[in-house]
Amino acid sequence: MGSNPTLSVFLNHMFQENSYEKIIQTAILTAYPRIFTDIPLSKEIFDELERIRKTESHGEITAELKVSKLAPELEARYKLVDQLLHKNNATQILEIAAGLSPRGVEWTKNPAIEYVEVELSEMARDKNKIFKALIETPPNLQLKEGNALNLKDLQKSITHFKKDRPIAVVNEGLLRYLNFDEKAIVAENVRALLKIFGGVWITPDITLQKLLQVQNKTTMPGKNQEIIQRTGRNIEKNSFKNEEEAEKFFNNLGFTVERHSLLEVIDKLTSSKKLNISQKEVKKMLEPAVVFVMKLEDSRA
Ligand SMILES: C[S@@+](CC[C@H](N)C(=O)[O-])C[C@H]1O[C@@H](n2cnc3c(N)ncnc32)[C@H](O)[C@@H]1O
Repeated sequence: MGSNPTLSVFLNHMFQENSYEKIIQTAILTAYPRIFTDIPLSKEIFDELERIRKTESHGEITAELKVSKLAPELEARYKLVDQLLHKNNATQILEIAAGLSPRGVEWTKNPAIEYVEVELSEMARDKNKIFKALIETPPNLQLKEGNALNLKDLQKSITHFKKDRPIAVVNEGLLRYLNFDEKAIVAENVRALLKIFGGVWITPDITLQKLLQVQNKTTMPGKNQEIIQRTGRNIEKNSFKNEEEAEKFFNNLGFTVERHSLLEVIDKLTSSKKLNISQKEVKKMLEPAVVFVMKLEDSRA
């Protein structure tokens, strides 16, 4: 596992055609299960995406990307991240790789919140179209095109954030597609932002080997292999051996780690009932999944 981000790794990927674009389709994989939850707008967003795909001849969304059994895990991670954003009194939120997530819409119902999403161009354009069809996007919610590995893209997206107020950076479902050098580049970028604003980095992207084992056996057999083929991204190799290794990785990059378990929100799940998944099975799916709340080492009180 390398943890030395080098410029050459970044440049290689920047210029490697379709290096990150192939990951975009995984936003469909994570948006579909949300339709079985009570997370607002989830069904409307997915239906609109399907409509756009059909009418713009991108091809229909194939059944392989519709994995309903992922719903409890994704609902839990979404709700735990929300809970942790509240706990940290977030008022300026940067969501990296937001995909088709409706979080920004919900949070910006409060006019005191500034919310920015950064996504790869194609996804950002599709989401803009979806929002145009469904809602009046509030002025405090902005969807920007950018690459998580490019600090300038991230900096440019939040120039309107107030420097005297802390930020919360969030990403759900991005880091499992990045190798360790790329994860370190994203972490360095987040560090650079937190150095200016202060605040927290909240992410469930701590994919542990034991989580993949449960996904491969119970939640979505065969799917991770299929996703590896589709994206060219080796999720297995990109995963952390265990929590200790994950914590050390982020400690070495200058972060303190507060860990949370997805089990903390098990009572808030609605999808398991809808899909008839037993509580015992849900526990098995959530137990190996964690969310890290990270701050800069040097900002520790
Ligand atoms: C599994 S999806 C998760 C989407 C969303 N966060 C969710 O939970 O539904 C991964 C997302 O990462 C985005 N992505 C991949 N590489 C990226 C990059 N280098 N910069 C920004 N976004 C990226 C993809 O476009 C995709 O929307």
